[in-house]
Amino acid sequence: MQKKKRQINNQQLQQQQQQQQNAKSKNKKYQRPRRRDMDQYLHYIGGPAGALALTGVAAASAYYLVSRPTPEKPLVPLDDQSHLVPGPELVRTSKFYKEAKEGKFVRHLFSDTKTLYDSFRRGAKESNNGPCLGWRDGHTKPYQWLHYNEALLRAKNFGSGLVALGLEANPHTFVGIYSQNCPEWVLTEQGAYCYSMVIVPLYDTLGPDACSYIIKQANINIVVCEDDSKCNLLLDRPPKCLTRLITMKEVRPATNQRAKNRGIEILKFEEVERLGAAQDNKEVPPKASDVCTICYTSGTTGNPKGVMLSHENVVAAVASVILQLGDHKITSSDVMISFLPLAHMLERCCEIGIYTVGGSVGFFSGDVKRLSDDMKALKPTVTPAVPRLLNRIFDKVQSDISNSFIKRTLYNMAMSSKENEIRRGIIRRNSLWDKLVFRKVQEGMGGRLRLMIVGSAPLAANVLTFTRCALGCLVVEGYGQTECVAPVTLTVQGDYIPEHVGPPVACCSVKLVDVPEMEYFAVANQGEVCVKGTNVFQGYFMEPDKTKETLGKDGWLHTGDIGMWLPNGTLKIVDRKKHIFKLSQGEYIVPEKIENIYIRSQYVQQVFVHGESLKSCIVAVIVPDVEVIKQWATENHIAGTLSVLCAHPEVKRLIMDDMILWGKEAGLKSFEQVKDIYLHPDPFSVQNGLLTPTMKSKRPQLKKYFKPQIEDMYAKLI
Ligand SMILES: *[C@@H]1O[C@H](CO)[C@@H](O)[C@H](O)[C@H]1NC(C)=O
Repeated sequence: MQKKKRQINNQQLQQQQQQQQNAKSKNKKYQRPRRRDMDQYLHYIGGPAGALALTGVAAASAYYLVSRPTPEKPLVPLDDQSHLVPGPELVRTSKFYKEAKEGKFVRHLFSDTKTLYDSFRRGAKESNNGPCLGWRDGHTKPYQWLHYNEALLRAKNFGSGLVALGLEANPHTFVGIYSQNCPEWVLTEQGAYCYSMVIVPLYDTLGPDACSYIIKQANINIVVCEDDSKCNLLLDRPPKCLTRLITMKEVRPATNQRAKNRGIEILKFEEVERLGAAQDNKEVPPKASDVCTICYTSGTTGNPKGVMLSHENVVAAVASVILQLGDHKITSSDVMISFLPLAHMLERCCEIGIYTVGGSVGFFSGDVKRLSDDMKALKPTVTPAVPRLLNRIFDKVQSDISNSFIKRTLYNMAMSSKENEIRRGIIRRNSLWDKLVFRKVQEGMGGRLRLMIVGSAPLAANVLTFTRCALGCLVVEGYGQTECVAPVTLTVQGDYIPEHVGPPVACCSVKLVDVPEMEYFAVANQGEVCVKGTNVFQGYFMEPDKTKETLGKDGWLHTGDIGMWLPNGTLKIVDRKKHIFKLSQGEYIVPEKIENIYIRSQYVQQVFVHGESLKSCIVAVIVPDVEVIKQWATENHIAGTLSVLCAHPEVKRLIMDDMILWGKEAGLKSFEQVKDIYLHPDPFSVQNGLLTPTMKSKRPQLKKYFKPQIEDMYAKLI
């Protein structure tokens, strides 16, 4: 059997080699234009490769004198970026808002703009009915624009149409939206606000079960839906409360029929607009304290939780970021590219910021792989970004320069020159290095970018510095979570040092709270990041217990992230508060830590470690590695399917002994080692509800699912 396997491997190897050769010869063809690029560089510098370095420096300094960059002064002292509130709690606040010291936080920038309804109208005035929502019909077409007043009218008509369809104009009416970013998304949102309704975004990664859970929990009657396929996903398991789908694109007749069979009516977006225009219902603008959106987040535990955010929450969060941008703040001449999902608050906030100042938002045409085409056509000045995108650009540039010594040398010179400038507070993209080395990257993003806001996940230090150097625009990195709208902290202009997330923004204060079981203490400037302020959410929809757990008794939001204050008043995120429990003898157990050790065993494919505060030891559920176990069984003349093998005492002994060995090697204490295991033949998966879409264990579900086996193990242990 082994021999056979090897033969297959040989065959595969040959195939692979063949493929690699094919790829290589293809690569050769690819390389040729690259060479020509290189010649252009050389021609530009005007010297042979040997003298390149010196000539480069001379040319750069000559150019430097001509283009005369001006350094900018940072808006706060870089060695003292946040304010420490006197007192035992060591609370820190923003230096961009004086009253923050006294526990008052930014609520809005303009006294006539306190809701998202007001924000859009302010933008219309500021821009003097400028271009608002942009889209293109295909990759070769130019952008077309809906201007502010037209967008306002269409939004109002759509909202009026929702009222005509029977929705009540109050903040207890929830409207679902399930679509990629597009003008209709924003029209739906603003249309809902015209009648104080609440927007509930649905998105693919939630999964169909979660979508119907949300529709049911929020009692949603109407979902605005992008296209045929999304309609069908909702029609797979529609809750009773869902009575209408409003579609932006054509749907197939079969889908219409399918909907009808389930008692659901499908309407077109334009139909609702027409209906609304005809009825012309009177607007019912929201109050600042009204909820504007419920953002469902899928966690590792159980059903998605609906984060309720008020108009004031969102307006405050956006205001605090605009405030902190200083002279780099967004204006009506800014153009933003919209491609990150609007279902997430980072994108929502960036767009709302742009609408508040009267800028323009252009939507990508739907394919992230062709984002660069859209950016070249739109030439945005502002973009939000996530690490995934920046890593991709970084990797591409690295692989571009990897095959040429000259390119690498030029790149390194360019990086060090630009890093030097950034250190002195110079942000620009008109240096010689920008033209020589970074032109392609900059043009790939349209060539006009002046501000990038990075969020949603930690960004590696080298990628952040590369981004700052290569794009020559202000790059700020934020930290936050949906429960705080989006931002909690944000780096300030002028701080070029990566690996921290800046000081608190002006709408909140931050303190660190002891996590003794992980040995983080606030007196040592380490602990769980806790947030209080005008951006902190109103609670989880219909989940008072979870709300209490997260908001604490004192109104401080507990983020679950472990942070550390740097001496200059910036925050660094260092860890995540783990799932932890105490055993009956008082010892702390961090199951994820133990699982990460046991998974090293070759026999273990998946592992779930479980313990209870009433028990003195821990047990585990193991999904064995099929291949390895089958091979071992054959070698030891034990026959049977995986299920049979799982029930075999010798197999269990083998696996458990190996796990204990790994545990010893990694220094687990004896109470951290499992005392019994149960072998399960079927892997934990997203389908069987035991893993999250990001492949993390859903602990409460696993516990429930394996309750009988766990009880059985404990019964035998006592
Ligand atoms: C902030 O403090 C950290 C830690 O001491 C240091 O590494 C960093 O250089 C400081 N940042 C600035 C901008 O001075």
